[in-house]
Amino acid sequence: MRVLGVLGSPRVGGNSDVLLEQALSGAREMGAKGEKIILSRKKISGCLDCTKCNETGVCVIKDDMPAIHRKILEADAIIHSVPLYFWAMTAQMKAYLDRWCAFFDGSWNWHATYAPMMKGKKIGLITVCGDPNVHTADPIVHSFRATCKFSGLKLLTVVRASAYGKGEIDKNEKAKKEAHALGRKAATP
Ligand SMILES: Cc1cc2nc3c(=O)[nH]c(=O)nc-3n(C[C@H](O)[C@H](O)[C@H](O)COP(=O)(O)O)c2cc1C
Repeated sequence: MRVLGVLGSPRVGGNSDVLLEQALSGAREMGAKGEKIILSRKKISGCLDCTKCNETGVCVIKDDMPAIHRKILEADAIIHSVPLYFWAMTAQMKAYLDRWCAFFDGSWNWHATYAPMMKGKKIGLITVCGDPNVHTADPIVHSFRATCKFSGLKLLTVVRASAYGKGEIDKNEKAKKEAHALGRKAATP
């Protein structure tokens, strides 16, 4: 089993990162290979809607995303961890998600070559917001939930947490436990 962790916060060692590490440790505990990608350390441009990938399944933009596409294809589960920025996901996470476009054909079906690897793939989501009401981050949940429903991905239990200062989440045992359980679930066949 391969579990890919995708960090959407530019604050490495911050709250989303702490919870993502918890999830990856849960996955590794189950015997999975866990790898983390820090999006803010990658060069990922926004989708150009050039539609070239509709035919080829390959993105024309020469940046770090094609290598991440390959990691996504190889992973059994992908766990995303992202803070709320202005009632939405961070720019890093949005650019990454939009580039999933390359997996689809012109009718928004998986490209035939990718379908066997993508259908039913497990998707994890962890959100962190400064607001004490964790549901303030629900616009992010909506985006992932709708994407998964639309494309036949399996969204696992969403972990929602609240914290503001860097690493403050470390005191939140409940959120850490939930993230750990999410990682274990992601690594369960
Ligand atoms: C640019 C920016 C915008 C933010 N917008 C919101 C927001 O709309 N609602 C909210 O509850 N918290 C907001 N926050 C607070 C973060 O979600 C919060 O500090 C979170 O813990 C950061 O997670 P991290 O440590 O993983 O980066 C914002 C923070 C920044 C830097």
